[in-house]
Amino acid sequence: MEPPDAENPPETPLVECLQCAYRDERNEIEQDGDSFKVKKNIAAKTKEIKFKIGEEVEDEMPTGRVKITPTLDAGGKLRFDFDFAQGGSVHRTGDSGRRVAVPGDEGMQRMGRPAPGSSPNEMVSLVGFCDTTSLLVGLLLPALVYVLVVVVKFLVWLRKDIGLGSKFPSPPYHWLYGNNHLTDFTFGEKYLSVIRAVVEKHPQAHSFCMAWINNIINITHPETIKQLLKSQSNGLFMSNGDTWKVRRRLLTPAFHFDILKQYVSVYNREATEMISKLLETTKRGQVFEMFQEASMCTLETILQCAFSGGQTSDETKNEYVEAIRKLEILFIEMVFNPIFIVAPSAYKRLPRGREYTRLCKFVHNTSESIIAKRRQQLMRDGRPQQKTGRLDFLDILLSARYEDGTGLTDLEIREEVDTFLFAGHETTASALSWTLYSLAQHPHHQDKVRAEVNHLLSGREENTIQWEDLHKLPYLTMCLKEAMRLHSPVPLIVRTMLEDTVIDGVTVPKGFEIGIHLYGLHHNPAVWGPDHMEFDPSRFRPERMKDRDSHAFLPFSAGQRNCIGQNFAMNEVKVMLARLIHKFVFEVDPTRPAQKEVLIVMNTKDGMWMKATPV
Ligand code: HEM
Repeated sequence: MEPPDAENPPETPLVECLQCAYRDERNEIEQDGDSFKVKKNIAAKTKEIKFKIGEEVEDEMPTGRVKITPTLDAGGKLRFDFDFAQGGSVHRTGDSGRRVAVPGDEGMQRMGRPAPGSSPNEMVSLVGFCDTTSLLVGLLLPALVYVLVVVVKFLVWLRKDIGLGSKFPSPPYHWLYGNNHLTDFTFGEKYLSVIRAVVEKHPQAHSFCMAWINNIINITHPETIKQLLKSQSNGLFMSNGDTWKVRRRLLTPAFHFDILKQYVSVYNREATEMISKLLETTKRGQVFEMFQEASMCTLETILQCAFSGGQTSDETKNEYVEAIRKLEILFIEMVFNPIFIVAPSAYKRLPRGREYTRLCKFVHNTSESIIAKRRQQLMRDGRPQQKTGRLDFLDILLSARYEDGTGLTDLEIREEVDTFLFAGHETTASALSWTLYSLAQHPHHQDKVRAEVNHLLSGREENTIQWEDLHKLPYLTMCLKEAMRLHSPVPLIVRTMLEDTVIDGVTVPKGFEIGIHLYGLHHNPAVWGPDHMEFDPSRFRPERMKDRDSHAFLPFSAGQRNCIGQNFAMNEVKVMLARLIHKFVFEVDPTRPAQKEVLIVMNTKDGMWMKATPV
């Protein structure tokens, strides 16, 4: 899961951008008279397509062959009309968002830039506006037309969206608020209870209406999920088809068992560090906030394993953890804000939008500084495998080559580092802290886990957990899985359909988004029984597991786009849990029970306050 990019927020709804490859920042558009060419930079390869305004050209896109006709709109903007061969109909109009030089703009080579040396006034006079009235008309009219077109497009899309949503059952619906009034317009405990109630009545799928924003179809049953995963779809936060395939192939070796084995010592080192921090708080008899402690610990672990340290200061790590949490909150706010949906660039100018951009820059800078330090180190010391034989994730990225021998661009490397830093620490922190919270609420299960760990470590000089020990902790593993079911560290994932797909008897057209509601699946009484809100690790006993559907428990999703880091995460959390439970008895702070908040991961509203007492 990549954190969303605020520097280049999509100016049209995401579905459209995914289909319009030419909007991409990395693509260049060059003009020569009334002809121009698009230089597509995909996966470090360049492909040139020549166009003439009004003339149809064919191109190969991830979705198949497509006929494209470029035109100019009233504002002089370049538009691409896409005609997908399979459906035989025009699916959308892509808007490059760049202005084409109008006759007289001879000096403009790159679109959207004034001719060198021309002032804004000269630009206006070139297109024939001289006085203030015409200036206002010249500037305002295209802007108004633009806003009108965007609003009409949005309303047409909303109508289709609501039309599709009405074919599925939904929670009680209000004509103005949709389903928002039921959840107080938040994604906390109330939202989750609404989801549980609708899943109880309609186990396969339902629609949830965010009034005036969108109508998301959530699927919550192993059968409907299997059906969807078989079809062609893209993830919301992930790179599209071709790029994803190439990069996934490049990264897979970084998760080979031989590599994962070496990380067990890092998990132990970080567990020791966390134990000494908790000992300090217990000396003072204080409670502590578990989610923050867990996030700091998992961030350091991913920095150590994937980037061999990255030499990031504690201050930067603290800031990074904070920034990610704020970004998640702002992102959720942003995608459900009508201003953002209708006019993303206007949203960027609002205080919340500016804060979002600032935090994104900080997160990107953190990744860039890790990459820059490694490049310097490589120049100084040579390739690491020559010395230690071990390649970390960053080495793999820096040395990866496409079939034509070219490496990943700086931007591609940064995007992957961003993904790993984000996906590799928040999710694991959520799994670790919610498991400890459930064990703190259920001392009986906590004692059983402690007894298992004590038995494993008895007679040893050191308390560390070894690679070979990881499969010798069956009760701990059952508790971890049950906590991931009950709390679902990643509660919801979204897929954009790349082809018409039948879900629960309804045809969902290509281009629509479907939510795989993992929290809803894990609380589906038709799958987990009426006691699905109980913490019952025995659900994961092998004899109870064998009759359960393979898609009943999906904390890491399933199919080809499942979590690449799942073995890494399970090993890390097992080591942390074993070491912490071995050392402390955990209790919840009864005055501050943890309240769930659905961000991109399952977070808490006001923190997760706990007390640890040394055994
Ligand atoms: C308990 C911890 C974790 C959970 C619950 C989790 C869950 C998930 C889920 C549900 C997805 C699918 C997202 C989607 O389809 O939209 C995913 C994807 C991903 N995860 Fe994890 N994850 C965890 C830990 C990790 C770790 C530790 C790493 C890296 C070291 C990682 C790296 C990734 C990446 C790179 C993807 C995108 C995969 C792709 O598109 O091919 N995750 N994760």
